[in-house]
Amino acid sequence: MKYTKVCTLSDLPDDEGLKVVEGDTAVAVFNVNGKVLATQDRCSHAKWSLSEGGYLDGDVIVCSLHMGKFCAHTGAVKMAPPWKPLKKYPVKVEGEDVFVAFEDGYFEAEQSKSKVMDG
Ligand code: FES
Repeated sequence: MKYTKVCTLSDLPDDEGLKVVEGDTAVAVFNVNGKVLATQDRCSHAKWSLSEGGYLDGDVIVCSLHMGKFCAHTGAVKMAPPWKPLKKYPVKVEGEDVFVAFEDGYFEAEQSKSKVMDG
C-alpha cells in the first residue's frame, strides 16, 4: 500500500475536515477526538465538498448543503438525503505526520436500503 504524506496533526482543524488531493482523488481528513480518519471529500449526495462545506458533530460528518450525515468511522449514512456511504481511505500517523493511501479507498459501510434513516 502506497502512503503519501498529506499534512501534520497540527494542520487538522478541530471540527472540520482538511481537503487533500493526489491526482484526481480528493480526500477529507478529520481529527475525530484524536483519531485521524479519512473519507472521500465529495458528499455522496450532490458532490458537495465535505471538508470545505461540512463539519464534524462529534464523530458525525455533517454536509452543510442538505444536512446529510455520515459516520466518520465507517462512512455509513446517518441521515438522509444521502443514501450511499462514503468511501474510506487508509490513514497512518507517524509522529506528527499524517499519511493517506489514495489508491486504496474502500467502502466499509453498506449502502442504505432505505432513503430515510434516523439517528
Ligand atoms: S450534497 Fe451533501 S447532503 Fe446533499
